[in-house]
Amino acid sequence: MQSKLIQVSLDARKKAYAPYSKFYVGAALETSSGMIYPGCNVENASFSLTICAERTALFSAIAAGEKDFTHLVVATENGVSPCGACRQVIWELCGEIPITLVDETGVRTETSSSELLPQAFGQQDLGS
Ligand code: THU
Repeated sequence: MQSKLIQVSLDARKKAYAPYSKFYVGAALETSSGMIYPGCNVENASFSLTICAERTALFSAIAAGEKDFTHLVVATENGVSPCGACRQVIWELCGEIPITLVDETGVRTETSSSELLPQAFGQQDLGS
């Protein structure tokens, strides 16, 4: 399943709309039901409206009715890790899951939500 997820993330990366940064990002999110949701970054001339690949995949899965996520793969040119905003959203919607980071040559790094966002702020911190 890991190799399929990696392939989906690399394919999604090719669909990225990133004419400003030219930094193309793909994501593949696996659900416990065995579905895989792709995502890519989508930029805008009004730069702050840009959405990252990870959130595109997550929001598209949520919109399709999915609630239980088992693995996320993020593909970039250089295998870097998700931005802070995405780490927070991953924690909110996925809790602790394995995350694989891949570069375009196939080099991978294995990490997880809590490793990327230790001492995360979450629902439980809101109190009653
Ligand atoms: N980007 C992502 O898609 N995911 C990240 O975690 C980091 C940044 C995108 C946003 C923007 O389109 C481009 O990469 C450069 O920041």
